[in-house]
Amino acid sequence: MKNSCDAVGNLDKSNVVIKTAYRPGIRVAAHGSTARVSLPISIEVRDNGSGVAEEMREHLFDPFISSKQNGSGLGLALVAKIVGDHGGVVSGTREGGETVFRVLLPVWNERENNG
Ligand SMILES: Nc1ncnc2c1ncn2[C@@H]1O[C@H](COP(=O)(O)OP(=O)(O)OP(=O)(O)O)[C@@H](O)[C@H]1O
Ligand SMILES: [Mg+2]
Repeated sequence: MKNSCDAVGNLDKSNVVIKTAYRPGIRVAAHGSTARVSLPISIEVRDNGSGVAEEMREHLFDPFISSKQNGSGLGLALVAKIVGDHGGVVSGTREGGETVFRVLLPVWNERENNG
């Protein structure tokens, strides 16, 4: 959210949108595995800023990577760590002129976790 607000800061018509969804059908290959896991909770943050600079893209989620004068470059590294610890995935893409960061998370499953 903070990155999106930074990205649209100087625009006349700035737009930052959060979209949440529950999609029980969604299965994703995660964590370098070929097995597909169910990650039905989706949280997207979209903005109409100019997007992630080309040279940042490859290392976006690494710590201390920043294009900002006073940025620590820890925001996305922390997001990736917390989401990963919860068994989810986070990605950044460009879709139809918008920058989209999407977090997908699993749901707690009584049967699988209480057995
Ligand atoms: N929505 C976005 N639009 C454009 N660039 C982005 C966006 N989100 C992240 N970035 C780019 O990714 C870099 C890394 O982001 P990250 O949140 O990890 O660090 P930061 O925002 O620079 O510093 P910090 O979050 O620690 O204050 C940013 O410096 C910026 O270049
Ligand atoms: Mg940040």
